[in-house]
Amino acid sequence: MQQLKCLGIGCSPRIQGNTSLLLANAMQGAAEAGAKCETIYLRDYKFSPCIACGGCNQAGQCVLKDEMQMIYRQLLDADRIILAAPIFSMGMNALGKGFIDRGQRFWATKYILNQAVAPRPDGPARLGLFLSAAGTDLPGVFDCAIRGVKYYYKMADIKYLKEFCYSKVDAKGEILNHPNALQDVYQAGQDLILAH
Ligand SMILES: Cc1cc2nc3c(=O)[nH]c(=O)nc-3n(C[C@H](O)[C@H](O)[C@H](O)COP(=O)(O)O)c2cc1C
Repeated sequence: MQQLKCLGIGCSPRIQGNTSLLLANAMQGAAEAGAKCETIYLRDYKFSPCIACGGCNQAGQCVLKDEMQMIYRQLLDADRIILAAPIFSMGMNALGKGFIDRGQRFWATKYILNQAVAPRPDGPARLGLFLSAAGTDLPGVFDCAIRGVKYYYKMADIKYLKEFCYSKVDAKGEILNHPNALQDVYQAGQDLILAH
């Protein structure tokens, strides 16, 4: 059987922060389940927010020729995706949201051009997870971010499997003290590779 490719996307600006640690553990699980894994951090890429020019309506391509183009290629090539983003101001943080908005080219491909975004007639399904952390446990603190990721995955022809969201995790690295988070996401990474 062909080796699955798993792409991890870290959205936090904070190096070794809580969502980056969750992502690292999930990716370790995926690697140990046999996937070819690569993790990228959006903070290492220079890309513009969507400028709402409508250029992607013509051919499903983004006219902004910045480093998001590299990420598009990796994303379209991946069989499994793990997105990890913290909650800032009751929604996904800006780097993560900027990434999601740049998925507008997938929306245009799907809903204006009526084409498949990542056609793979005989290939494995594309499946994704979402990992998050928030400093508070305010009701609904993850709702907006989860909705955005579900929307993005649908646009990008990725089946949304599940989220792992941890509240009351604020200081850098505090997730390391959580009783089960790291083991849970490690297991989720393994399960993601074994899922169909
Ligand atoms: C600018 C900013 C805004 C934040 N807004 C919220 C918020 O609205 N609700 C909340 O529960 N936590 C909020 N937090 C706390 C983060 O969600 C928390 O520190 C999280 O663990 C960060 O994850 P990271 O280490 O992966 O960046 C905010 C943090 C920052 C820096």
